[in-house]
Amino acid sequence: MRNPTVKTVVVPAAGMGTRFLPATKTVPKELLPVVDTPGIELIAEEAAQLGAQRMVIVTAPEKQEIMRHFGTFEDLCATLRSRGKMEQVEKVARAAQLIEAVAVEQDRPLGLGHAVACAETALGVDEDVVAVMLPDDLVLPAGVMEKMVRVREEFGGSVLCAYNVLPDEVFNYGIFDVEDAGADFEGFDVKRVRGMVEKPAVGEAPSTLAATGRYLLDRSIFDALRRIQPGKGGEIQLTDAIDLLISEGHPVHIVVHEGGRHDLGNPGGYIPANVDFGLRDPKYGPQLYRAISQILRDFEAANPGIEEYAQR
Ligand code: G1P
Repeated sequence: MRNPTVKTVVVPAAGMGTRFLPATKTVPKELLPVVDTPGIELIAEEAAQLGAQRMVIVTAPEKQEIMRHFGTFEDLCATLRSRGKMEQVEKVARAAQLIEAVAVEQDRPLGLGHAVACAETALGVDEDVVAVMLPDDLVLPAGVMEKMVRVREEFGGSVLCAYNVLPDEVFNYGIFDVEDAGADFEGFDVKRVRGMVEKPAVGEAPSTLAATGRYLLDRSIFDALRRIQPGKGGEIQLTDAIDLLISEGHPVHIVVHEGGRHDLGNPGGYIPANVDFGLRDPKYGPQLYRAISQILRDFEAANPGIEEYAQR
């Protein structure tokens, strides 16, 4: 069922993609494919499934190719059609059919909070919720935002998605300090948040519950973003604005996601995402399964003791 609550989804996509150099010298990382579909189109699909009509893409001036991906490509479609390649026509046309993509420029890389703040003027005046989806994060199966909408209807305020990470991974994420008592709300694990800290050192994190790229924020987040100082890394952090709202009594809850997750933001997460999606792909799956199994066998034979090494 389409949910009318979220009309616009904000997708910050202005990052420099440093972990993907040299590929990202000319190709924005959001356009790197998972099998054959750019990560940002997978996000558009998730946003459309949620019922959103518009995707506000926060881009950098040199990343206009992202917007081009949401064009109609009529000449290309006509050529493909004349050659009877109807399956490909559908693939080309799909992004523009999924959702209306609108660009907002972030001219300097001042952080995730700053990127979200850039989207304020692009939201309709009647929109009181700011839905943010980070294109680096694939949260599987899709549908966690629908749960978050339900939680916001019930508890008000802001709702985020959390994922349990290993204790030595906390320094990569915004980490939640939560109240002990979790509520089982409509079958999913919901917790009230007492505070949030951006990328804490290992051993100093309040929990192992990490923010994973899906946010349903009250519009008051824009005001909070104007009131915070640069935080971790000298950047305007979305985490700090959320923490400020909590300290002022604003209710914030998390939905603890129990499904899968891929981090497309670095090769170490991007490659497993491709393997996972590739194995499930009806066209490439069987062949890929054979190829990967063979690669693993060969690799293990050439590297005795590799299993132990990989545990590190
Ligand atoms: C951002 C957020 C962080 C969050 C993470 C999820 O960090 O600042 O709080 O946990 O996304 O992927 P980034 O990955 O951009 O460094």
